[in-house]
Amino acid sequence: MCGIVGYVGKEKALPRILNGLKFLEYRGYDSAGVAYLENNNLKITKEVGRISNLEKLLDEKTETYLGIGHTRWATHGIPSKINSHPHQVGQFTVVHNGIIENYLELKTKLQKEGVKFQSETDTEVIPALLNYYYNQTKNILESISLTLKELHGSFALGIICEDDKEHIYATRFGSPLIIAHDKSGYFISSDVPAILEYTNKYILLDENEIAKISSTDLTIYNEKLQTITKEELTYEGSKEAAKLNGYEHYMLKEIHEEDTVFLDTYNYYVADNKFKDTMPNLKKYQNIHIVACGSAYYVGQIGAKLIAEYANIPCYVEVASEYRYQKNFYDKNTLVIVISQSGETADTLSSLRKAKEDGIDTLAIVNVVASSIAREAKYTLYVKAGPEIAVATTKAFLAQTTLLTLLAIKLANRLDLLEYFKGLEDYIRILLNKDYQKYAQAFYKHNDTFFIGRGIDYALCLEGSLKLKETSYINSVAFQAGELKHGTISLIEEGTPVIGIATRKELIPKTISNIKEVKARGAYVLFLTNEEDNGDYYDDILVIPQVHDIITPILTVIPLQLIAYEVAKLRKCDIDKPRNLAKSVTVE
Ligand code: G6P
Repeated sequence: MCGIVGYVGKEKALPRILNGLKFLEYRGYDSAGVAYLENNNLKITKEVGRISNLEKLLDEKTETYLGIGHTRWATHGIPSKINSHPHQVGQFTVVHNGIIENYLELKTKLQKEGVKFQSETDTEVIPALLNYYYNQTKNILESISLTLKELHGSFALGIICEDDKEHIYATRFGSPLIIAHDKSGYFISSDVPAILEYTNKYILLDENEIAKISSTDLTIYNEKLQTITKEELTYEGSKEAAKLNGYEHYMLKEIHEEDTVFLDTYNYYVADNKFKDTMPNLKKYQNIHIVACGSAYYVGQIGAKLIAEYANIPCYVEVASEYRYQKNFYDKNTLVIVISQSGETADTLSSLRKAKEDGIDTLAIVNVVASSIAREAKYTLYVKAGPEIAVATTKAFLAQTTLLTLLAIKLANRLDLLEYFKGLEDYIRILLNKDYQKYAQAFYKHNDTFFIGRGIDYALCLEGSLKLKETSYINSVAFQAGELKHGTISLIEEGTPVIGIATRKELIPKTISNIKEVKARGAYVLFLTNEEDNGDYYDDILVIPQVHDIITPILTVIPLQLIAYEVAKLRKCDIDKPRNLAKSVTVE
């Protein structure tokens, strides 16, 4: 959600900034802009829509060696040129990722001082405040430091001050920001993929630190404006991991990596049917809360059912935007598990912080290394999904499900169950290589669909339904199969597509009777199951390999992801960047 890239160095800045912004497209945005120095003059160019629209207004050969760029996902004010970043007030030009919660209060205060605002954004108060303090102090670092003390919310900032044409300044609180350098100069960026073309070494800026960056030097200051040294991190993955490599879409490429992602995640925690040291000892926890957003929340639902069933431990699941504001009941053996692909989701991060403030142990399941959630939890368990670029998560979902399953086995102390994972990658490959277009054909012309299932299959219905909504814009509702007749069945008409999922032996007959109810009312039914079935209550059937119940969800999700992909393709949707969505949701 919003992306920042800046460059100062010996190479031309615009190609590097635009190239970096393209790598951050996956975060979600609806306008873009750059500010750069040309012949010592600051130029700002902004445009609504894709980066390609902005590119048309710029000449990449421009002699500029310092600049900052931004992709904006509108929160305060519509996507428009005026609301796009960079924002300039007086000497200061700023790009911002995050939200300033007290911006109205600050705006009123600054308006009383005579500041005129151009945009509807929260961001514009930042250059205004910087300029306000600069008029008093004539010191850039001090102005940034004083401004930081006034801002409430989350922010990563790239800053140019026209009185200092050699440096970019950067700071952050809440939202992520990295600094990297190659032989030619320095970069700032919201995320690592944007700089992988040039280097895999980077520094993570911590909260309230301020970086002063020239083409040859980087100085980092702490809150008290004392200089500090920071450890340089190395990105372990290959730079190819963030490329399409011949696939038409990232979503498809990422789904097709699921066999490897499964193995990498499994092998990171297990060897020779035993847990490695990478899996912590969690024996003392007898009460578990799982907190997450979006798809990660659905993984949480799968995990909670497995933990309750196999480890006999009560497990409560809640979406993070609710959890952070409600009364939660803990005891001294409670463990709060947060799940987040990005490790930056604002609500999930706040829920983690709330649990910590209450003195509760926390465990994070995260994909992005060294992200905020990963760094703040007591235990951090990484999934090994690699960079996920498509906004709709797929391989990270499968990796998280794998890890939650392992966690349930660990908590249950049932090492015997690890045996069943052997060869699962082959079944994953079988499912990846099936033809899903024929199923998609039955769905893509409809505007309403239903997913029904019971127990863990219901959690998978939620994910299948979300994938379809996100990528193809078809309205879709997931329902507990037994609950349908209490109202929702009134929506079933002749031809309404329904996906019925039943993979648990004891629940299959129950779900089939619900499938019969919708079929009798004219629904078009696709039955997804793991047992051969010759019934006359479905229109089409998709049989997945039969494996142990505990690992079945890892397989069930694959056809759901690929059907959503094929439907979105038939509907000619912007599959990797669905409208209005952001991958990394750094606002609440
Ligand atoms: C966004 C994404 C979803 C994701 C959710 C949680 O809404 O579009 O795909 O599931 O955020 O993200 P996280 O990074 O915390 O897993």
